[in-house]
Amino acid sequence: MKVVILHDEVRADARPDELDTLVQADCVAQALGELGHESERLGLTLNLERAARELRDRKPDCVFNLVESVGGQGRLIYLAPALLDSLQIPYTGAGTEAMFVTSSKTLTKQILASSGIPTPPWFTPEMLQGRTEPAAGRYIIKSVWEEASVGLEDDSVREFGSAAELAAELAARRDRLGGSTFAECFIDGREFNLSLLAADGGTASVGVQVLPPAEIQFIDFAEGKPRIVGYSAKWREDTHEYHHTPRTFDSSDADRPLLAELIEIAQRCWQVLSLRGYARVDFRVDGENRPWVLEVNANPCIAPDAGFTAAAERAGLTFAQLVERLVVDALRNKNDVSDPAGV
Ligand SMILES: Nc1ncnc2c1ncn2[C@@H]1O[C@H](COP(=O)(O)OP(=O)(O)O)[C@@H](O)[C@H]1O
Ligand SMILES: [Mg+2]
Repeated sequence: MKVVILHDEVRADARPDELDTLVQADCVAQALGELGHESERLGLTLNLERAARELRDRKPDCVFNLVESVGGQGRLIYLAPALLDSLQIPYTGAGTEAMFVTSSKTLTKQILASSGIPTPPWFTPEMLQGRTEPAAGRYIIKSVWEEASVGLEDDSVREFGSAAELAAELAARRDRLGGSTFAECFIDGREFNLSLLAADGGTASVGVQVLPPAEIQFIDFAEGKPRIVGYSAKWREDTHEYHHTPRTFDSSDADRPLLAELIEIAQRCWQVLSLRGYARVDFRVDGENRPWVLEVNANPCIAPDAGFTAAAERAGLTFAQLVERLVVDALRNKNDVSDPAGV
């Protein structure tokens, strides 16, 4: 089988979170080789005409979609599946609508909230406009469209006394956070990641396998330092937080009911967002043991050191088996792509 690995076009001097897409492309290429498939790479840019021409010429049986941003913008991530839909080429991972919805953290939260899935209360600049009562409390200021903790550091978390103060901070951080911001109630508590993989059901329409839940620990964080997996914790190897936020799959018996609840909520996220292939749901759990969904990643990182890869390994899957499962799932969805009306 011929597989085109589609990834972000990044410059050699790009940020580490941007270069990560190339690390994933290398690993996927190697795994596809081990599985006996031929693979080629293609970097996606805003020149969609060129990409369409390349894809038509190369005629892949399937595209492995690793695109996380187009033209450096997270908000354009959905252009990759949209282009592949229009060319009727099967691809791994989420479809266009799910990719678009999950790339907006606030749109995702609206859908989760309306489906009864707990997500922390939040304010967009529009929601704060004309609000007279104070939106007091501790908030974290986040990007609507960017992922990988871009622009998230300790000073992203603080107390606000009024809606006006919160609105001013959202405006002040807009440029650093990819152009659109929102404030989310800060959940001071434990952090869990649940990785989801389309179940291995042959050609039949299948459900989802929840991989072992991972907890991110915050070790030796100084009093008052926000416990967050910010940009430094994820990408800056010379920082304290990079080395003090390990992932563990160990849990105590007392955590069993909590983990069962996280698994159940993650499965509901898969359903209400119509996810495909794989996904990772990021949670915080508050002091009363209540889980809250922060976000759903429809294109979770599968670099060797990533949470999804570790969870798959923990479930007994080799990296090549993971890649094969995703390709099989892409081909299972082929009929949906080539025959959208189902006729
Ligand atoms: N509402 C929140 N309460 C507590 N911590 C949060 C909250 N939102 C984000 N964080 C912290 O910031 C990290 C990144 O936020 P997240 O919403 O997962 O965005 P992304 O990973 O796409 O940058 C989380 O892993 C968590 O540590
Ligand atoms: Mg996250």
